Amino acid sequence: MNNILVTGAGGLIGGIIIEKIDNNNFVGLDIVASKYSKTIISDISDIEKLKNIMLSNKIDTVIHLAAYPSVSDEWEIIRKNNIEGTRNVFDASRIAKVKKIIFASSNHAVGLYENDHPYKEIISGNYDNLEGDFDLIKPDCLVRPDSFYGISKAFGENLGRYFHEKYGIKIACLRIGTVNKDNSPLIGTKYGSKRSFATWCSHDDLAGLIEACIISEKITFDIFFGVSNNKWKIWDVSNQKGILNYSPKSNAESFR
Ligand SMILES: NC(=O)c1ccc[n+]([C@@H]2O[C@H](COP(=O)([O-])OP(=O)(O)OC[C@H]3O[C@@H](n4cnc5c(N)ncnc54)[C@H](O)[C@@H]3O)[C@@H](O)[C@H]2O)c1
Repeated sequence: MNNILVTGAGGLIGGIIIEKIDNNNFVGLDIVASKYSKTIISDISDIEKLKNIMLSNKIDTVIHLAAYPSVSDEWEIIRKNNIEGTRNVFDASRIAKVKKIIFASSNHAVGLYENDHPYKEIISGNYDNLEGDFDLIKPDCLVRPDSFYGISKAFGENLGRYFHEKYGIKIACLRIGTVNKDNSPLIGTKYGSKRSFATWCSHDDLAGLIEACIISEKITFDIFFGVSNNKWKIWDVSNQKGILNYSPKSNAESFR
């Protein structure tokens, strides 16, 4: 049993966690209500309150989801919620002696790879002559953010590396793909549903990945792609087997 603080508990992924992961004492934090039986209404801009919540609930693990979650170049809102807010969550965790932080990063930290062959073709649904013939994007690739939003997630990953190397906190950064409330790759974003056949992550696979991160004792500073085992995935998930004893199972092709 871990004592886990979930920031952004009132959102989509916060809801998936409380629905699908058992055997932990969860405390939810958000500026809106959540399904968590213990929910604290608070803004991550308040670092004092974050620290007090972590200490009074003996939090050992933080799942940091709270953010402005859209691909956006709106600097002020990204700066406040995603950059300063994430720094507050990490620093409060350090003061409260939290052992592990699971950080909701994003595929948009490496989104500009999608301008390159063959990823460009794959996310457009053009698979001609590609079968089994390309390298997946690896978790340790150079970051190539595609927006201020993507930059804020790359910032969170770097913050995580710093807090791991300087303070020893275990950090798992999840570069989450496409998770939607319909749990389907048929739902398009502004990029269109063709992209989702590469990027979709089922609710079960996301919950499985997060639960494996909670349980694993092998995490140091690690980056994992949160994507299902889609035939046309462009990101490498092979590091999950060794560190987390976990691999995603869903495949977007079952929806075609
Ligand atoms: N859903 C996806 O496909 C996806 C993909 C990649 C990354 N992510 C990341 O996962 C996380 C969760 O995403 P989601 O889809 O559940 O988003 P969501 O918008 O449904 O949930 C985010 C929650 O964070 C809360 N929040 C925002 N700012 C806050 C603040 N300053 N203080 C406290 N709470 C605040 C919101 O009220 C909201 O309930 C986000 O960090 C997002 O960037 C999501």
